[in-house]
Amino acid sequence: MRSAIWVMTAALCAGVLGAPTDKFSYGSASPGEMKVLSEYFSLLGDKVRAGKQMASAPVCDLSQAAMPVAPTPLPNPSTGLSLKHVAIGRGTQNYSCSSTNSSAAPVALGAVATLYNASCIASTYPDLLAMLPDVALQFNLTSTDQNTLSPSNLAISGHHYFQNATTPAFNLDTAAMELGFAPCSKNNSVSAPAGALVGQADTGFGAVTWLKLVTRTGATGNLEEVYRLNTAGGNPPATCVGMPTTFEVQYAAE
Ligand SMILES: *[C@@H]1O[C@H](CO)[C@@H](O)[C@H](O)[C@H]1NC(C)=O
Ligand SMILES: *[C@@H]1O[C@H](CO)[C@@H](O)[C@H](O)[C@H]1NC(C)=O
Ligand SMILES: *[C@@H]1O[C@H](CO)[C@@H](O)[C@H](O)[C@H]1NC(C)=O
Ligand SMILES: *[C@@H]1O[C@H](CO)[C@@H](O)[C@H](O)[C@H]1NC(C)=O
Ligand SMILES: *[C@@H]1O[C@H](CO)[C@@H](O)[C@H](O)[C@H]1NC(C)=O
Ligand SMILES: *[C@@H]1O[C@H](CO)[C@@H](O)[C@H](O)[C@H]1NC(C)=O
Repeated sequence: MRSAIWVMTAALCAGVLGAPTDKFSYGSASPGEMKVLSEYFSLLGDKVRAGKQMASAPVCDLSQAAMPVAPTPLPNPSTGLSLKHVAIGRGTQNYSCSSTNSSAAPVALGAVATLYNASCIASTYPDLLAMLPDVALQFNLTSTDQNTLSPSNLAISGHHYFQNATTPAFNLDTAAMELGFAPCSKNNSVSAPAGALVGQADTGFGAVTWLKLVTRTGATGNLEEVYRLNTAGGNPPATCVGMPTTFEVQYAAE
């Protein structure tokens, strides 16, 4: 009962992060979903109450943000770079499967995700930031142009897609701000930590790897490196047994 009250309180007060606006049915949530959401709204409630004691709004200073580190760390950002943007990405990893060999592994086709501006959260509430991919995974996007990330009110800040099989790209040019365009190649990947959310409704095949990407020729806005961290969901099953020739797996990441 206590957690239910927390949910209500946080939802009503949360000017910074917003109330659930979605068709998500709490009544049908799995235990894991309920845990993710109640921890999030409980922490959000703490922030909202603490915020009321502050003399002024928190300052969004990206130099205060700290990068999450996996058990096997990714290489550090290169010397001389500074953090330009932090986004929560929400979308799908796409895969193809052999129609003739069900014991083959699915093949990655790329990903499509919408990016939401979490720069302020990263610099002010890193604990809340770390939860956001798990929380975001519980809500499907209604379109790739959905303006805010349910159940928060983080605003859209770009799009992620693949230009070809080896070129993940990040378009951070929006009407609100032109941060640049970053076509990338993979520099390094490490496993997501044990305990990362495996998928929606407590089922799924695990969280996609954490990545370090570096930009290719054609990048703008002085963008040089991109990290994918705090992943939730996105992995395919180990084999193609019972899978269609193409399919999507829901995922979220920072
Ligand atoms: C099916 O895929 C498995 C796993 O990759 C492989 O070992 C096997 O040789 C493949 N069979 C055929 C007929 O291609
Ligand atoms: C992934 O799936 C989405 C939705 O079906 C589709 O729009 C997109 O083109 C697919 N992307 C890739 C790389 O297959
Ligand atoms: C992200 O949000 C912060 C705070 O509202 C704002 O200052 C910044 O310009 C936004 N960045 C982008 C890329 O929209
Ligand atoms: C999200 O969409 C997938 C289909 O792509 C569906 O299987 C799943 O149940 C949806 N999840 C939620 C939380 O709506
Ligand atoms: C994919 O695109 C990149 C960047 O444009 C290019 O360098 C690379 O050769 C392309 N790869 C393939 C397989 O087409
Ligand atoms: C990753 O980046 C480092 C530093 O720039 C470089 O030395 C290394 O060769 C890169 N590795 C790959 C696989 O691109």
